[in-house]
Amino acid sequence: MLLTLTAVVALAAAAVYAAPARPSHPLLSKDGLSRRAGSLSIPDDAVFRDMWMALSDMQETYFERWLGTWPDGIDWTRAVMGTHVAATLRTISDELHVDEPDQDVGCSTRKEEVIGGYFADVIAYYFAEDTFAIRNEAYDDMLWVVLAWLESIRFIDEHSRATSSSCSKESGAWPGLDAWYGSRWIPAFAHRARIFWELAAKGWDTKLCGGGMIWNPRLMPYKNAITNQLFISASIGMYLHFPGDSNSSPYETADWPPHDPVYGKAAQGAHEWLVSSNMTNKQGLYADGFHISGQSTGSNNTKCDERDEMVYTYNQGVLLSGLLGLYRATGQERYLNEGHTLIRNVISATGYDLEKNKPVDQIQPDSVPRWHGLGRAGVLEEACDASATCSQDAQTFKGIWMHHFAAFCGPAALRFTSSDFLGTQRPHRQAEADTVRARHERECRRYVPWLRHNARAAAGTRDENGLFGMWWTAGLLGLTGEAPIESAPDLHPLPPAADGEVVDYRNEGVPLDPKWTRGAGGGDVPPVPMPDTKRTSQEPLKSDRLTEKKKKRAKTARDDSGDGDAYDPNLRGRGRTVETQGGGLALLRALWLVSRLEG
Ligand SMILES: *[C@@H]1O[C@H](CO)[C@@H](O)[C@H](O)[C@H]1NC(C)=O
Ligand SMILES: *[C@@H]1O[C@H](CO)[C@@H](O)[C@H](O)[C@H]1NC(C)=O
Repeated sequence: MLLTLTAVVALAAAAVYAAPARPSHPLLSKDGLSRRAGSLSIPDDAVFRDMWMALSDMQETYFERWLGTWPDGIDWTRAVMGTHVAATLRTISDELHVDEPDQDVGCSTRKEEVIGGYFADVIAYYFAEDTFAIRNEAYDDMLWVVLAWLESIRFIDEHSRATSSSCSKESGAWPGLDAWYGSRWIPAFAHRARIFWELAAKGWDTKLCGGGMIWNPRLMPYKNAITNQLFISASIGMYLHFPGDSNSSPYETADWPPHDPVYGKAAQGAHEWLVSSNMTNKQGLYADGFHISGQSTGSNNTKCDERDEMVYTYNQGVLLSGLLGLYRATGQERYLNEGHTLIRNVISATGYDLEKNKPVDQIQPDSVPRWHGLGRAGVLEEACDASATCSQDAQTFKGIWMHHFAAFCGPAALRFTSSDFLGTQRPHRQAEADTVRARHERECRRYVPWLRHNARAAAGTRDENGLFGMWWTAGLLGLTGEAPIESAPDLHPLPPAADGEVVDYRNEGVPLDPKWTRGAGGGDVPPVPMPDTKRTSQEPLKSDRLTEKKKKRAKTARDDSGDGDAYDPNLRGRGRTVETQGGGLALLRALWLVSRLEG
């Protein structure tokens, strides 16, 4: 496998993710761990290498080591980027420690260093993360932080386990060889995850709508899909993966144990609430969230009764890792079934037929196919993609979907230990668990052709520096000019407003009206100060040097697209950013992981 630092140099040609010819050996060995028994087929190698390069391009282009962060990001998108880095390192680590008898020692040391080098970025970001600011942001912002550090802990854990065995013989003479150095960071990361989970849990509210998380304490009460899905996913993640915390800073005096049922029960309760909240639309997709009517006019209403029908990709994703965790903790297959239903609804809303394994519409040259609710031409798409009106928030969404999908369907998803179970009783027998796993993996395998189709599209959006664009569909279309986009019938499609209002606040900003914003006028409620924009909208770091670097990048891309027939719609709007790169990375990682099931 080609895994060198020179891989930083971008691929000139887009890889084509054809269905690989499968090796004849079994992919999985009896001990249930992912093991590669022979060399990978060439197309697989391409996906793995491209995933590696997407990570290195992301870090070398957008991460500034002298600042320890992605300066163009904002607090919450940086937490998501940190999650992508840690998750990819976990995946890479899993591949590097397959037994390779004729492996050169220097070479394996170098591979280890490459992993350690990007792990150093994770550590740097631990200190650069603006925890003070995030404490004053919305509850969802805090929960992305929890997910990021839990992901980093899982990487450390697995990498530590994978590297320890080879050195165990020498541990007598060399104390400390039993653990990878990264494990020294577990207490710090665990502490941050716990602190932010506790801060976020204050958003759980039972006075309105019978439960549910509030999105943002400085706005009118709004209970949205993302904050609730995050709370489910982060809580069950804390239950399963939080290793405990004995650091009582800043003021508590206590010891927080691992596997605390408090987290598991929070996840179960939040899931029950979400399921009963009537938040899914006619396509079985999550609408954005609920207002409580009359709040600004002092009515007594406490019901979630005004739904914002806007549909975003990430609202269909974060729940998936939560559902997987709930299955692991309870053994109840209904959680997995719910996840598969949601995934099938998403795939269908991209305009893809899973039975026939192809998009429902023909792709015509120089035209933009029709919109199906969450994509077109079988490719996942944000409503703002085609018109290039996506905000920094929306640029992060598709990668989030892919990350949580990979957690749900990756080969390791259903390999777990009995200590995962909520309560002391193992919920079902091994044979039963194996049957569920076989069923689950069979379902997940069905999604691979769709995933490969999406990866092929996204790969087509990479510029000559290897950087991914936002609008993946464009990578399939071969557009030669702006005209086909401008004349597309659903350039900026919104869900039909028949059932309720559609407010695309993630792209257009929170409306300054009484439904959203306190003190915006109307009613008997005494006005409270308007939120100041610094505290409700996050800002990237400003630096001339960085702006110059970005301009230069865009200019190179434009100059190069001038010669030849290429028209690059991904230069419009915000263009390529760390968030769009994270999206491409998460997609390749999802394809790499889930396609393992095809073996
Ligand atoms: C669910 O929400 C939709 C859209 O707001 C609404 O039309 C419908 O009446 C709701 N159903 C229930 C049972 O509340
Ligand atoms: C709220 O409830 C109280 C007591 O039931 C009632 O007197 C009042 O009229 C209600 N207010 C509104 C706006 O419905």
